[in-house]
Amino acid sequence: MIKKCLFPAAGYGTRFLPATKAIPKEMLPVLTKPLLQYGVEEAIEAGCDTMAIVTGRGKRAIEDHFDVSYELEHQIKGTSKEHYLNEIRSVMDKCTFSYTRQIEMKGLGHAILTGETLIGHENNFAVILADDLCDNQKGKTVLNQMAEISKRYPNCCIVAIEEIPKEDTNKYGIVAGKLIEENLYKIDTMVEKPSPKDAPTNLAIIGRYILIPEIFDILKDTTPGIGGEIQITDALLTLAKKGKVLAYKFSGIRFDCGSVDGFVEATNYFYNKQK
Ligand code: UTP
Repeated sequence: MIKKCLFPAAGYGTRFLPATKAIPKEMLPVLTKPLLQYGVEEAIEAGCDTMAIVTGRGKRAIEDHFDVSYELEHQIKGTSKEHYLNEIRSVMDKCTFSYTRQIEMKGLGHAILTGETLIGHENNFAVILADDLCDNQKGKTVLNQMAEISKRYPNCCIVAIEEIPKEDTNKYGIVAGKLIEENLYKIDTMVEKPSPKDAPTNLAIIGRYILIPEIFDILKDTTPGIGGEIQITDALLTLAKKGKVLAYKFSGIRFDCGSVDGFVEATNYFYNKQK
């Protein structure tokens, strides 16, 4: 059972400047809820009760969001506005939050390694990138689908993948491997942001992972790649060579809320859904 979920949330979010100059990207709201809260709710639904968040300078709003706000709550207690806080209170009742800071932004792999102190080495854990906002109208959430696969493959990492247009391969980690079950591949090749002509497939990793603790030691030995960043894809490739990485083509929809286009699409989608 996956109990801990790690949220790397230390990135600068430069594509959203100037909005992200003083506000963390993960706190930008789709309708009334910050991106990170959607991610935490998905983790809870998958059975997690411990949220481990990697933050950085200028990200204190994240900690305040998942805490009580005495003055505000005192002001609206007993009024017709009190229900606006119901959802976040329910989230806070169901899990605990812990934080650590990434001092230098040396990439997603480095952010995950920074979370080692919160996650430990006992059990497999989930990773959610909150700027990939996922929804599944009918069935289980993406992380929940992955958690079920993880029960059957406890010695493997699982990455969520989706088919993308070939011309976009240079924005993603791309995987290739052998289909072992419906929608599930055993991975033998992974490349970070290949050009379309070098990409082995159009299967792109999106921001949902289930990782085995062995990943931490591999990350420590992973040399920085593109832009001096430690890439999670490089560390996963080491495990893939040992047959320990699966890729799952999830059912549902994903919005790249790290880009303005994706953020607007998500906003329209969730607005139409709640009408
Ligand atoms: P992105 O690649 O979207 O980078 O990171 P970014 O800095 O957030 O955004 P842009 O590209 O400048 O607009 C993917 C995820 O990894 C986290 C980010 O917070 C985001 O959730 N991340 C990235 C870190 O936590 N630390 C890093 O050093 C880099």
